[in-house]
Amino acid sequence: MTSILLAIMGWDPKGWEQRFRALAPQHDIRVWPDAVGDPADIRYACVWKPPAGLLAGFPNLKAILSLGAGADDLLADPELPDVPVVRIVDPDLTMRMTEYVVLHVLMYHRRQRLYDAQQRERRWLEHSQPVASEVVVGIMGLGVLGTSAAQMLQRIGFKVVGWSRTPKALPGVEAFHGARGLEPFLRQSEILVCLLPATPATRGIVNLDLLHKLGRHGALQGAYLINAGRGALQVDADILAALEEGSLAGAVLDVFPTEPLPIESPLWGHPKVTITPHNAAQAVPQTLAMSVLQQIDRIERGHPPENTIDRAIGY
Ligand SMILES: NC(=O)c1ccc[n+]([C@@H]2O[C@H](COP(=O)([O-])OP(=O)(O)OC[C@H]3O[C@@H](n4cnc5c(N)ncnc54)[C@H](OP(=O)(O)O)[C@@H]3O)[C@@H](O)[C@H]2O)c1
Repeated sequence: MTSILLAIMGWDPKGWEQRFRALAPQHDIRVWPDAVGDPADIRYACVWKPPAGLLAGFPNLKAILSLGAGADDLLADPELPDVPVVRIVDPDLTMRMTEYVVLHVLMYHRRQRLYDAQQRERRWLEHSQPVASEVVVGIMGLGVLGTSAAQMLQRIGFKVVGWSRTPKALPGVEAFHGARGLEPFLRQSEILVCLLPATPATRGIVNLDLLHKLGRHGALQGAYLINAGRGALQVDADILAALEEGSLAGAVLDVFPTEPLPIESPLWGHPKVTITPHNAAQAVPQTLAMSVLQQIDRIERGHPPENTIDRAIGY
């Protein structure tokens, strides 16, 4: 019997505990903070935002498994034990993010907010709509989530360009990479979709300078931002400034430097901003617990885990 710890902050751990117990009755499931038992028993820690220093208290850990796709919070722990850190890659999580991206790209492309406003005024007025193939969506981060969103957007007709750290070849997607590829990527992008991880290299990347480089004279006649990566990527004040001066026509924000978004933030009431509470791709135990347990199973069978975080680059 292998002892697995669930340490979850900010979400209700009950559903995770039930799902782990149902799927892995052969394992000993312990739940932080009340039912940890002897810390020396614990081999795997399955975590979401555990307090810094907590994991250092388990001397026999074989791996840490993040219950979310990002691991930036974990890597910020200066006492993080030196064992593999595994992040979630799961078809359900990926599809949820693809839904979010497609939903909001279409909201801009089909000018749905304009029609919502007209409906409130009982106005029957049709506006022209560009051909999807003339609208360029730029995906920052061509990883698991960015690739899936790019492929779906292509299937419904959009022109897709992408940007990543290392070179990528995705059929039909014009791919740019690295510092030199950033500006030509941005110049084409009318709707910028940010699906980067938060790392030392990406913090604050969505700033006024970057927003000024977006393509504002394409088919949509304006530039739009969708950030569903991490809040640390964006500078809220710069997004507001870009909206005020008109260089940005709209922003959909799922993530923020401070979460929950403080009640006094001017983003809340801004007419060109759409806010969601960091749920673009909700992590639900029904599907994700199985992905986590599969990685534990791999390690137990002597195989290296998949989807490990490279601590040197931060994702
Ligand atoms: N809002 C939500 O609900 C939610 C849910 C899940 C995940 N997320 C966020 O989404 C992020 C992406 O997830 P994922 O599974 O797609 O991650 P991933 O597979 O690791 O992909 C990350 C992508 O970002 C690129 N990248 C990283 N650093 C870069 C840099 N300095 N310059 C240019 N490109 C860079 C990577 O480039 P390479 O391909 O060259 O490595 C890769 O294409 C997660 O880290 C998490 O923060 C948010």
